[in-house]
Amino acid sequence: MADRTAVIIGVGPQRGLGARLCQGFAREDLHVFVAGRTEAKLRAVADAINAEGGTATAVVTDATREREVVALFERAAAEGPGPIDLAIYNAGNNMPGGLLDLDAARFEECWRIGCFGGFLFGREAARGMLPNGAGTVLFTGASASMRGRPNFYAFTAAKGALRNFAQAMARDFGPQGIHVAHVVIDGGIAGDKIEQRWPELAKQRGEDGLIGLDAIVDAFRFLYRQPRNGWSHELDLRVHKEPF
Ligand SMILES: NC(=O)c1ccc[n+]([C@@H]2O[C@H](COP(=O)([O-])OP(=O)(O)OC[C@H]3O[C@@H](n4cnc5c(N)ncnc54)[C@H](OP(=O)(O)O)[C@@H]3O)[C@@H](O)[C@H]2O)c1
Repeated sequence: MADRTAVIIGVGPQRGLGARLCQGFAREDLHVFVAGRTEAKLRAVADAINAEGGTATAVVTDATREREVVALFERAAAEGPGPIDLAIYNAGNNMPGGLLDLDAARFEECWRIGCFGGFLFGREAARGMLPNGAGTVLFTGASASMRGRPNFYAFTAAKGALRNFAQAMARDFGPQGIHVAHVVIDGGIAGDKIEQRWPELAKQRGEDGLIGLDAIVDAFRFLYRQPRNGWSHELDLRVHKEPF
């Protein structure tokens, strides 16, 4: 029976990281607030969790809208079975594009999802957890979090800034009992996004060419379970044959 609450934002298809994180943490006996933009996708994830004996609530929330993020945390605090013990910011959208053709609106949109939303979410998570002096806040990163590359200007600017934001939070709130960590997913994920949008790429990568969803969920679970006398701030994950 769930006695703690998780808030996970950036949830899409069932074979996607956000959905798998929700399922994984529901199995850890957390009631999961499943948040994202598309109601049908959220409901499918919450229904699957409830059907297998966990508990979840779907909440349509755009991570870039302050009022919606504040309302999400208010609802989780009011309706969850216990304190908000876990918050995961998984929203992110890779928008490839070279610099000379990159228009300002596209850059800003990418930054709003990749970075600004992380600020809103991190702030509300900290506000919710501080009274208990406990909780875990996890951010999903990408290869772009670590290095700038041509053709990924907007994405790398957003993800790099999100990583620094997570570091600042960790240094600020760790001493107050809140564990903040960042997970660098250094390569494509073996999920719907790549396999449906770029099937040729998935095929070309071959066996174990994309990072497994279960392996990523395990990494998040490891961070969540760490005792406070041995916290990691960052983990990176890649397939064995990925050059880095
Ligand atoms: N996919 C990869 O290969 C890969 C590789 C490295 C890192 N990552 C990172 O992993 C995370 C998950 O990415 P994913 O592509 O695999 O997708 P996913 O976890 O399957 O789903 C993420 C969902 O976030 C939602 N989202 C987008 N903008 C949002 C917003 N403003 N507010 C709320 N939700 C929003 C989207 O919902 P809708 O579908 O409703 O638009 C999307 O389905 C991202 O942070 C990404 O940067 C992904």
